[in-house]
Amino acid sequence: MLLCFVIWKAVPLAVVEEILLNLPAHQVVQVCRLVCREWKELVDSAAHWRERCRTEGLQPYDASRPPEDWRLFYFLSKFRRNLLKNPRAEDGLQGWEIVQNGADRWVTERNSKPFPDNTVTRCFVTSHGLCLKEQLIDLKKEGYSDAFMDQLRPRIKISDWYIPPSGYRSHYTLYVQFLDQEKNPIRTCHPYNYFRQQGSDYPWCQITYVFRDYGPGVRFIRFTHGGMGWSGIRVTNSSVEICPAAERWTSRVEDCT
Ligand SMILES: *[C@@H]1O[C@H](CO)[C@@H](O)[C@H](O)[C@H]1NC(C)=O
Repeated sequence: MLLCFVIWKAVPLAVVEEILLNLPAHQVVQVCRLVCREWKELVDSAAHWRERCRTEGLQPYDASRPPEDWRLFYFLSKFRRNLLKNPRAEDGLQGWEIVQNGADRWVTERNSKPFPDNTVTRCFVTSHGLCLKEQLIDLKKEGYSDAFMDQLRPRIKISDWYIPPSGYRSHYTLYVQFLDQEKNPIRTCHPYNYFRQQGSDYPWCQITYVFRDYGPGVRFIRFTHGGMGWSGIRVTNSSVEICPAAERWTSRVEDCT
């Protein structure tokens, strides 16, 4: 309180604002905001977060539809994360709903072929009968409010890695559904359905899609993947990310119609 008073009296408001903008966001929220009423007002103002987004290059895709809550926009853009649980088979099949469990069923194993990123050491393996597994992401539970989803319609980035068995025919599939409040599909996107002929020694393959224009009312995302092949298709490091801030994509952007 005293500190605030001293600074408050000694330096102009614009300078305090400038200082706050140069401190890390979490410190501003957790510490500075509690110092006094004047600072709280500054930290709670849309102007502070709009300015912070501007200086850090975080902008919505559509400038004519700015975020209603710049603070939420800041944090959700800055701290993007993978919404899939256990994407790298570190906890067995935990977190995944098994949809199809053909022949010898889903299993997990250590990667026999090194993955490009050495933090990924395990994978899921299908059987020669069709194996599919899925996860349902509850956007509200993950912090993406209805208003946020409907107003900003952030890009949704999906990525998956798979490796076909060498020497056998195989089939890999990935599909993504955008569901409403009642879990009815608004859109189903079948970005990938790939058949490989009996072939050579395949490397790990990555699939990346960025979805936009999937419409309003999306409350859940269902990610389903799997396939079949004689000694199994391997999948790992799957991800689903919500990307509110504009960026240039090197991967394909899907309109998902
Ligand atoms: C594996 O997934 C993590 C988290 O989603 C990501 O940061 C990393 O880049 C991925 N690795 C590769 C090689 O794509």
